[in-house]
Amino acid sequence: MIKRRTFIASAAAAMMTRPRVALSAGSRITKSIPKTGERIGVIGMGSSITFNVGDDAQARTARTEVLRAFFAAGGGMIDSSPMYGSSEEVIGHGLGQLKPGNRLFSATKVWTSSQDEGREQFDDSRKLWGLGKLDLYQIHNLIGWRGHIKTLLEMKAAGLIRYIGITTSHGRRHDDLENILKTQPLDFVQLSYNAGNRDAERRLLPTAADNGLAVIANRPFQRAWLIDKVSSSPLPSWASEIGCTGWPQVLLKFAVSHPAITTAIPATSQAQHMVENMKAGEGRLPDADLRKRIAAIIDEL
Ligand SMILES: NC(=O)c1ccc[n+]([C@@H]2O[C@H](COP(=O)([O-])OP(=O)(O)OC[C@H]3O[C@@H](n4cnc5c(N)ncnc54)[C@H](OP(=O)(O)O)[C@@H]3O)[C@@H](O)[C@H]2O)c1
Repeated sequence: MIKRRTFIASAAAAMMTRPRVALSAGSRITKSIPKTGERIGVIGMGSSITFNVGDDAQARTARTEVLRAFFAAGGGMIDSSPMYGSSEEVIGHGLGQLKPGNRLFSATKVWTSSQDEGREQFDDSRKLWGLGKLDLYQIHNLIGWRGHIKTLLEMKAAGLIRYIGITTSHGRRHDDLENILKTQPLDFVQLSYNAGNRDAERRLLPTAADNGLAVIANRPFQRAWLIDKVSSSPLPSWASEIGCTGWPQVLLKFAVSHPAITTAIPATSQAQHMVENMKAGEGRLPDADLRKRIAAIIDEL
């Protein structure tokens, strides 16, 4: 008879070795959030700039169509921040029309050095999104992180948020971030990672993996710069083998095929681009060899 402790140890070992990528119904690729095992799609969406359209009724309707395309393709995670002007309000407007219910995985941020103002921002965000609770609350660019960690842990204990995260971009403050990932009780880290900016591979991604953190890749297109750069090159014949009809999908598949990356959050203002981008969350991901070839193409541009 297997002793209980031995059984638990071998079950844990099996979980460690089990591939973290799964193809679910409709061949949508999901990965698990390490701390809970909850599975999420590998393509979410960002909202800086693209959703900052204020009161413009026509632009709001167009963004609601972007959200409609996102949810229709099985999308879940939407990332925003008080830093992104009217984006949270415009997301809330779209959610009010579409009512995605529990298909939504809401992710926003606290963006202030003041702990008190951070609490107010949280309440504002809930109102703007039209939600009582948020799935993921992140500390934007490490600002005021020591104070906010305490508040976020209280919020989590009170059931107001499910996950706690921290974000950075452009390779800023990577040393500080690495220490935070090693020492703080976080669930998620968000950082810039794409085929043209692979700095995070050296230390942050291994640190996140070692500490059981889910990783969100922001800037998967380097703000469209990568798409512009690569689009004059012909799409290689292997692209169709991994289900890609265009470079944006290849770039997204590159980002989310890193074993430590859980999801990428491309931003778009166009429903047609959303349809294209969501297709990157289906079918096959590039293996290690193909990842090297994609990186080499980008490096040579
Ligand atoms: N520190 C932080 O927390 C931090 C920092 C940076 C980013 N972020 C998050 O990450 C998200 C993504 O980063 P990002 O917005 O900087 O840049 P990005 O997602 O790398 O690029 C967005 C750009 O790509 C274009 N695009 C999207 N899909 C396309 C497609 N299929 N074909 C052609 N062009 C396409 C968009 O133009 P169209 O509108 O024309 O599609 C837009 O100009 C942000 O929105 C934000 O939520 C967080």
